Amino acid sequence: MTALLETRGLTVTYGGINANDDVTISVEPGTIVGLIGANGAGKTTFIDAITGFARVSSGRVTFAGEDVTGLQPHPRSRRGLVRTFQSLELFEDLTVWDNLLVACDTTRWWTLLPDLLRRSQGDKVASQARWALATAGIEHLADRLPQELSHGQRKLVGVARALAARPQLLLLDEPAAGLDAVESAELSTRLRGLVEEGVTMFLIDHDMGLMMTVCDYVYVLDFGRIIAHGTPAEVRNDPRVIAAYLGSSHGPTEGEA
Ligand SMILES: Nc1ncnc2c1ncn2[C@@H]1O[C@H](COP(=O)(O)OP(=O)(O)OP(=O)(O)O)[C@@H](O)[C@H]1O
Ligand SMILES: [Mg+2]
Repeated sequence: MTALLETRGLTVTYGGINANDDVTISVEPGTIVGLIGANGAGKTTFIDAITGFARVSSGRVTFAGEDVTGLQPHPRSRRGLVRTFQSLELFEDLTVWDNLLVACDTTRWWTLLPDLLRRSQGDKVASQARWALATAGIEHLADRLPQELSHGQRKLVGVARALAARPQLLLLDEPAAGLDAVESAELSTRLRGLVEEGVTMFLIDHDMGLMMTVCDYVYVLDFGRIIAHGTPAEVRNDPRVIAAYLGSSHGPTEGEA
């Protein structure tokens, strides 16, 4: 099977330190691949590098068979490589629905089109947003303002907003941070449902319960380097992982908002 996403020897350097050091991974279509590691291991940096928000000093990123290493973030997202951000920013003065519309197409180029064409593009955008709401399971929140929502609901709006951009590969940076056990289990079901909808996922989280149930394959990052990879069961029992991560004081249960 051809991988949807591949990185080869990806290295990102900040102030002389390799935040990502020679990272090689691949993500097969139709799977959920996880990345775990202690605070500061370089997980967010890796998503930054894949999506064009961090400069890569060496190595390459291949998406759907195309080398995208030199592309800016926007052309990458137009190709279906879509991310969420660790610190979720919603537009507080816009309803959930409008938060999604903005994400469907930030440039709104279709407003420049002649009337008939514009209407069909508008319909397309609205149907994309409806699909995103339904898939995230938050149709009932469409008319609410973000401030009226619980933390868990806000996180789902963040996922829906990313979905509105119609990702082929969705990269989620700590979607379960701050969720309670019930919300985290609910999220897990939603993410598996997304795979059924044809969305492949790359997932970062400190919630081990979520990661071990939802991921098909897991990579472990320590000081910027991949130290182990395998199925959740393989990774959980790997002595290097236990030493570097699961047994450390920066344990996975610590989490952060
Ligand atoms: N824009 C930046 N400029 C300089 N250094 C950075 C930048 N972003 C990250 N770093 C550094 O790179 C290292 C990796 O940080 P990163 O945020 O990728 O870790 P993380 O694994 O996502 O951590 P967490 O679990 O806390 O979110 C850290 O030492 C961090 O201070
Ligand atoms: Mg991070």
